[in-house]
Amino acid sequence: MPFDVRPCRDREEFTRALYAIGQNFGGPPPEEMLDRWILLHGLERMHAAFEGDEIVGGAGALTFDLSVPGGSLPCAGVTIVGTYPTHRRRGVLRAMMRAQLDDVRARGEPLAALWASEETIYGRFGYGVASWAGDVSIPRESSAFAVPLERRGQVRFVSAEEAMELFAPVWAALSVQRPGVFSRSDTWWRTRRLRIPDEEKANPRRFVALELDGATQAYAIYRTKPGFEDGMSTAKLEVLEAIGTTPQATAEIWRFLLDVDWIATVSVGLLPPDHPLFLLLATPRRVRYRMSDGLWVRLVDVGAALSGRAYAGGGSVVLELRDAFCPWNEGRWRLAGGLAERTDEPAELALDVDALGSAYLGGVTFAQLRDGLRVEELVDGAAARADTMFAWRLLPWCPEIF
Ligand SMILES: CC(C)(COP(=O)(O)OP(=O)(O)OC[C@H]1O[C@@H](n2cnc3c(N)ncnc32)[C@H](O)[C@@H]1OP(=O)(O)O)[C@@H](O)C(=O)NCCC(=O)NCCS
Repeated sequence: MPFDVRPCRDREEFTRALYAIGQNFGGPPPEEMLDRWILLHGLERMHAAFEGDEIVGGAGALTFDLSVPGGSLPCAGVTIVGTYPTHRRRGVLRAMMRAQLDDVRARGEPLAALWASEETIYGRFGYGVASWAGDVSIPRESSAFAVPLERRGQVRFVSAEEAMELFAPVWAALSVQRPGVFSRSDTWWRTRRLRIPDEEKANPRRFVALELDGATQAYAIYRTKPGFEDGMSTAKLEVLEAIGTTPQATAEIWRFLLDVDWIATVSVGLLPPDHPLFLLLATPRRVRYRMSDGLWVRLVDVGAALSGRAYAGGGSVVLELRDAFCPWNEGRWRLAGGLAERTDEPAELALDVDALGSAYLGGVTFAQLRDGLRVEELVDGAAARADTMFAWRLLPWCPEIF
């Protein structure tokens, strides 16, 4: 049966909509958490599903720009999606996805992106895996670099206030280098990345900046967890984020993190497979990279999305696109000279919109999609041709789950 879905009108509705996902994290959201979420989303971007007066589901979206090859585009950052357990598998999510994607389209955002709690949920709504992210755990004895590093910069601790000022330009530089980086507002920095949560009060996250050649060229946010067993340190250092604007700066901030005394293991999550760390380290095998899906991307307006990114290679390709959930995208598209237009020319590749979302940021190739039975190659060589167009010099990287 269809559910009414509309944006929340007040704090009370937002609270009940948020508690749909909150069900999975314990009790109702505390007041200060609500304040933060309302600030980040705005009431109007939190959709609630109603059965009568009862709220039975919620789906939120953040408003940001996402870096795409050669630029950035407005994107809905879909998050805090949930259905009350009393109403699961009755179409609540489907109704919320319908309302949300219509809203994203009406706002003129060509893209939507999300981190999926399970890989089986969002493909049917047109989202495809667009980046890979993985964890590593680096034992102290395996933390040497392959080539000794000559350190030229100086790392120093900074306060959260200073970090606001110093870290944002480094993050912005990353978004120029790599697709998949979302723009962070001051509110985001303050309430998400630099906020010390209550549970960290006794041992809070630390902020360090690397000064090199008169500028902040890298930063790191990390926590330490002390430990001692059988007379030996088992302490852990957990890197929440480490970003550099240049190869030297990235190497230096990592050398700093790996050299902190009395730490047995350094761990970090969400690294893309082409992160420089793997070649900096002498023994990358020992860090046991565990790769998983990262950002999922949905092209909401295919024409604007395809025309809104840059392409590495020239040439053209004709796509036959299927999009059952957003049929306005369906049909044949010709991509040439960086522009996507409707065409009657014969199709060369046929695919669903989720597969195009996978290829969009350059994180998955058309050849991989063809071999994974997600793309039909109707003309020999079309996948390779599309790949020379879509490939980007660095893989997409989204360093934070939103
Ligand atoms: C994921 C969740 C929101 C699904 O909500 P729901 O209202 O039960 O979903 P719907 O009834 O609208 O299902 C829509 C379709 O998705 C499928 N589906 C829903 N959840 C699924 C899951 N976890 N795995 C696989 N398929 C799923 C349904 O079978 C249905 O398929 P159909 O269209 O072929 O019939 C709900 O299970 C939930 O709240 N989970 C916990 C929180 C969570 O994971 N949120 C996502 C955060 S990214």
